Amino acid sequence: MQKIVVIGSSNVDTTLHVENFPKPGETINAHKVSEAGGGKGGNQAVAAAKSAAETIFISRVGEDSYGSWMKEQLAGYGVKTDYVLPTAGVKTGHAYITLNAEGQNDIIIDHGANYSLTEADVLAAKDVIEAADCVIAQLETPLEATTAAFKLAKAAGKVTILNPAPAIKDLPADLLAVTDLITPNETESALLTSLPVAEEADLEKNAAKLHELGVKHVIITYGSKGAYLSSPVFTGLVPAFKVKAVDTTAAGDTFLGFLAGSLASDFSNLHEAARFANRASSLAVQKMGAQPSIPDRASVASALAE
Ligand code: RIB
Repeated sequence: MQKIVVIGSSNVDTTLHVENFPKPGETINAHKVSEAGGGKGGNQAVAAAKSAAETIFISRVGEDSYGSWMKEQLAGYGVKTDYVLPTAGVKTGHAYITLNAEGQNDIIIDHGANYSLTEADVLAAKDVIEAADCVIAQLETPLEATTAAFKLAKAAGKVTILNPAPAIKDLPADLLAVTDLITPNETESALLTSLPVAEEADLEKNAAKLHELGVKHVIITYGSKGAYLSSPVFTGLVPAFKVKAVDTTAAGDTFLGFLAGSLASDFSNLHEAARFANRASSLAVQKMGAQPSIPDRASVASALAE
């Protein structure tokens, strides 16, 4: 069984269901409002756990009812929450999501306790990080904590995966130096590389630039088209499965959790793991909500066999 440590955010997602996104200055009615567990870190932890990996999550929540609720939700999905720490004086992170009739979303985050995650929190989990096969992080929690975790993981010879979302322009060189695999979507990639992604042919140039920045394996997720892999073991587009999406929230997180849960430590099965992760993501987008939409390993395997 893979052992995965995820470092990252916990958010309560409040979703406003609308026909169309409002234009600037426009007031519209939502036809439904729903709430679910979310946060890119939490979603990736749930996906890794549901892919059948032993998953430990390092995160910060508020010392409020949402914080306890988040921990219960995560534990219910099989995530180990000993390192999901309550934080005095701040609220649990919250994401406000507008979801249109095509299943597309806009997300605004109130980061709350997520920015309280520290290097000391990570160092307190040194033993579990060193015992993991793979360590995953995103950019919704402080970079210092992620860098400290990746340095520990690399010193112990473990795999590190950085999902650079939400995008920032300049990632520190010391973080990139300890990142084995980076997984931006096309927008995040364009920001990181300062190169456009107007068409599929641009993905190769973007990936080359990300390699130049020091990362050996690159996956640029490309929405409903799939995922572009650029690695010594495989280069090319792994097509997405065609489905009707009702909610794309956590599609990328599901991809990443399932990828990590299936990936060999030498990356030799990268293509096969990406195809499995694409299938998991195609099931997630057919259900509402972030964490409630993430399928389990058996459903993904049977969908792949169809
Ligand atoms: O990737 C989707 C997630 O982004 C949502 O669950 C929301 O909480 C934001 O962090």
